[in-house]
Amino acid sequence: SIDREFIDSLPKAELHLHIEGTLEPELKLELARRNGVDIGQSTVEQVRATYSFTDLTSFLSVYYPAMEVLVTEQDFHDLTIAYLRRAAADGVVRAEIFFDPQAHTSRGIAFSTVIDGLWSAVQEAPSLGVDAALIMCFLRDHSAESARETLEASLPYRDRIVGVGLDSDERGNPPEKFAEVFAAAQNAGYRMTMHCDIDQEQSISNIATALHTIGVERIDHGTNILEDPSLVAEAKQQGIGFTCCPVSNSFVTNQMKGAEITQLLREGLKVSIASDDPAYFGGYVGGNIAALAEAQQLTRDEVVQLARNSLEISWADDARKQEWL
Ligand code: ADE
Ligand code: ZN
Repeated sequence: SIDREFIDSLPKAELHLHIEGTLEPELKLELARRNGVDIGQSTVEQVRATYSFTDLTSFLSVYYPAMEVLVTEQDFHDLTIAYLRRAAADGVVRAEIFFDPQAHTSRGIAFSTVIDGLWSAVQEAPSLGVDAALIMCFLRDHSAESARETLEASLPYRDRIVGVGLDSDERGNPPEKFAEVFAAAQNAGYRMTMHCDIDQEQSISNIATALHTIGVERIDHGTNILEDPSLVAEAKQQGIGFTCCPVSNSFVTNQMKGAEITQLLREGLKVSIASDDPAYFGGYVGGNIAALAEAQQLTRDEVVQLARNSLEISWADDARKQEWL
């Protein structure tokens, strides 16, 4: 099997990481105390006991309420620095960090509080050995109007945000609901990715819409593309990036989807591995690669390819990419 030291030694990009999903129980409790928020638990064991998920919906119903402890700019800063330290230890040289402004603005936290806290950490990231960037995600279970307002709110901070994504509950919330918002975001200069979660009712049609109507450069998860070989061929030809999260998959769908991830990799698609919500699922990027490599008996060359893919499909400056590759 492939040792962790080898995996961690490879320079890599993490491209599918929800910053709110890096809130470890210890920091959650500290922020709850600091902000005087009663989260109903007072020990790490009690917090962990609430982490039993059977699907995406049950995960999200624990995930969103926990965000109550994130109140001040300092909280968002501290959360991000804690993540960056862990990422650096796993060999991450580039982190493209998702954040969900609506999960905060909807409970009265100003957009500026969120972005200022995240941004000061992004600026500190190089001192931790990481080149970091922010991707703003719209919550697909909120209205298109709310996404539009969020896009508007982001425009004064356009230079701090590299792209937009789409996350949260996919059921009944297909990509076309956000076609206009994504078109406006693209016009504003944002790069585009979006979640096409595992085994959704309309997975394959949502993937087709993401590629054809929205025109995304990357798909987050997206392994259901295997149901349509013509879409696989198209994604390969266009160099579409995939950000797959095996440990997360094993929580929200009961299986890693390791065979599917490996098949896409072996067919030459630009597959990368990431950790999604590591504080909840218990694996940062190195752990995700190790779990996949073990389950699928990946070769060293394949593990190297996963790391190279992540850098290639990242949205870093070309000059930086050349240094890493
Ligand atoms: N938000 C955070 N994690 C998510 C996931 N795995 N799918 C959709 N939305 C999310
Ligand atoms: Zn995700």
